[in-house]
Amino acid sequence: MTTQAAGLPAVDPALSWSEAELPERERTKHVHRLHPYLGKFVPQLAEAFLRRYARPGQLVWDPFAGSGTTLVEANALGLRAAGCDLSAFNCLLAEVKTAPYEPHALVADVAWLSAPGAQPPPAIASPYLSRWFAPAALAELQAFRARIAGTAYPGLWRVVLSRAARSARLARHDDLDFPREPVRGEYFCHKHRRVCRPVGEANKFLRRYVRDAACRVREFGESRSDAAVTVLEGDSREVDPPGPVDLVFTSPPYPGLIDYHEQHAYAFELLGLERRDPDEIGRGVRGYCEDVAAVLRRARRALRRDGRVVVVVNDSRGLYDGILAAAGLRLEERILREVNRRTGRRAGAYYEEILVARP
Ligand SMILES: C[S@@+](CC[C@H](N)C(=O)[O-])C[C@H]1O[C@@H](n2cnc3c(N)ncnc32)[C@H](O)[C@@H]1O
Repeated sequence: MTTQAAGLPAVDPALSWSEAELPERERTKHVHRLHPYLGKFVPQLAEAFLRRYARPGQLVWDPFAGSGTTLVEANALGLRAAGCDLSAFNCLLAEVKTAPYEPHALVADVAWLSAPGAQPPPAIASPYLSRWFAPAALAELQAFRARIAGTAYPGLWRVVLSRAARSARLARHDDLDFPREPVRGEYFCHKHRRVCRPVGEANKFLRRYVRDAACRVREFGESRSDAAVTVLEGDSREVDPPGPVDLVFTSPPYPGLIDYHEQHAYAFELLGLERRDPDEIGRGVRGYCEDVAAVLRRARRALRRDGRVVVVVNDSRGLYDGILAAAGLRLEERILREVNRRTGRRAGAYYEEILVARP
């Protein structure tokens, strides 16, 4: 990697894809768009480093697995993959994205979920659900949830239920990531540049996302290998990979950027999942370096001697030289890539670093 006079790495053009080189449909190909997730890296970045540092049959470990991008890409390359995440919803996402699906059972599930069914008696809604959903939308979501019990792939349909719930919330269309207050009347929408109304139903989303999810898992089925995928739900300060690791590829949370539980609050509520907010790393700066170092130290202990630890991070606070040293890792290469931002109202250049380290 070329190094500039100031000692900073130059931007690596091969990893700084433009919109034309890497359009959204490629960044969100097959299972990577099963459910929105703020803070994931593009699959093509994972693929580039998995190809560079791992060979088929070897084990890749991602201690901050998130929505499972590393696991999906590793599996497609024939690598064994294991990941850990604190969030029960993220683990569900990663499992569903990497699972095998039998085409006939999938078709039967879609038919069952699309058939008109008897309306179940209204379930008791939590204060959160009553606040964030119109009564009709909530009834439709709860009816769908009841039908999931009769399917072959309940995990997949639980993710679809969550995706539909996200779209059917009483949230402004231009503030879907972290809506603060429900909207109950008309409002000027900055996304659609017109007056919009809050959503009153969920069935149209459920129908659309059932079909979309079935197509997406079938499409990934064409590149999916039989290599094992393990998803471990837990605190990665305390969880070990399931064997000697050849490559660690991960992107840790960063202080004050994204609340990984809150972004899926509706899913935790509807699916009855347990939240572990206080154990989330990156909720504050205090303790952050020690926590990430503890995770990487544990990963280093499981690493084979010639293995690498590759960390993707926008280290705006300059914390990672210290973190890697505290984890007993030596920085081998520091790569900078420009991230092409197309979504949301965020604008301007944004850079991501890829830190390649060894024991
Ligand atoms: C930057 S995201 C990873 C995104 C992932 N690379 C992807 O493409 O989906 C960081 C993840 O770390 C998880 N996390 C935060 N604290 C954790 C902890 N103590 N143990 C395990 N995972 C944790 C968050 O839930 C979040 O999913």
